[in-house]
Amino acid sequence: MNMPKSFEIQDGRILWSGQDLTQIAEAAGTPCYVYNQSVIEESYRAYDEHLSSIPHLICYAMKANSSMAVLKVLADVGSSVDVVSGGELFRAQKAGLPVKKAIFSSVGKGEDELREAVRAEILFFNIEAAEELDLLARIAEEEGKVAGVSVRINPDIDPGTHPYISTGLEMNKFGLVPDQALDVYRRAFRMPQLKVLGIQAHIGSQICSIQPFMDSLDRLLFLRDKLESEGISLQYLSVGGGLGIQYNDENPPSPGDYADALAKRMQDTGLTLIMEPGRSIVGPGGILLTRVLYCKQTPRKRFVIVDGAMNDLVRPSLYKSYHRIVPVVLREGQSAKVDVVGPVCETGDFLAQDREMPSVQPGDLLAVCDAGAYGYTMSSNYNSRPKLPEVLVNKKGFRIVRTRQTYEDLIAGESL
Ligand code: LLP
Repeated sequence: MNMPKSFEIQDGRILWSGQDLTQIAEAAGTPCYVYNQSVIEESYRAYDEHLSSIPHLICYAMKANSSMAVLKVLADVGSSVDVVSGGELFRAQKAGLPVKKAIFSSVGKGEDELREAVRAEILFFNIEAAEELDLLARIAEEEGKVAGVSVRINPDIDPGTHPYISTGLEMNKFGLVPDQALDVYRRAFRMPQLKVLGIQAHIGSQICSIQPFMDSLDRLLFLRDKLESEGISLQYLSVGGGLGIQYNDENPPSPGDYADALAKRMQDTGLTLIMEPGRSIVGPGGILLTRVLYCKQTPRKRFVIVDGAMNDLVRPSLYKSYHRIVPVVLREGQSAKVDVVGPVCETGDFLAQDREMPSVQPGDLLAVCDAGAYGYTMSSNYNSRPKLPEVLVNKKGFRIVRTRQTYEDLIAGESL
């Protein structure tokens, strides 16, 4: 069966980090998210170790998974963070991430958010519009601080991924094309409240080859030289995030391989490399555990109806993305082609379509794999379904790190 490398099979059941997923499901209830501390730490360390020959900073893109326990795991291995909102900055601070080394990316940072980040003295802001630069300068002045600035470049590169998660094409809303960026740099350079520090691009997500990253990096280095020739020196270059993971039969480079290629290209540039990986750090380290409620054979199809739904994991519905689904306890019986669907009242509520699955029966537990990134963070209360509990496993055991929302939580803050 095609399953994550980190799964171990013992007596026909899946263990993760030595922990029995059946017991976890009993303790937390289903559906629930489960995260594997070792898998997360290993991905982070692969980047860090393979970049050891050059100055570098890994700013984990916490939009992929901003659960406090996961942030704490990353803080403990020395990660910095890429935030995209005031809420993320707040979480990062509470989880003990080093926000003075944080960077702030977002195409639409609000005034309050900018102010909070200026007060927190983050490393720099990735500027995406000329007006944003002026606003930041004013806020820095009001706060009596000097704000670090980098400009997000739109390098016009096709990363060959899903259109919703391609971000570095000229038609996308992100960043500034090189000529506009140069103007912003020149202006920023003259503003005493701002300190020009870096250059950044993020061309998309779930990118499964190294070449688009290298093309983007070359464009950034070219611009850096141009700035240098005008007397504007940079210290940091961020290649963004975006490295893909194996969901099905993709064969993306490993974090180590990608880091090796970056280290080679960045050597002798005198710059500190920044990376903003999200998915490749937490994606393989998370699963959604869900239980089969019913198996329904219609004249046309066989449906496996589970208790997890599109509000818990929206990626299949939103991007038609593939997540491997593995029964936690293997049973005898014929495999069949099925749709794995949730209880939400939408035809688009599915976790898999036309998927050949081993035999399952009501009550069986299924692991929806590689759901550590953009799983919980994109979940919602649609259909008034409480948000899920989260469990962290490591070699020593497991613990519930977020409880399931209650019905009272669902109406908190509302009035009649
Ligand atoms: N840096 C910036 C500026 C970003 O916008 C992103 C992701 C990252 C870093 C991290 O990219 P990663 O290493 O995770 O690919 N919800 C979609 C993915 C959206 C990605 C948005 N930006 C999904 O579920 O596939």
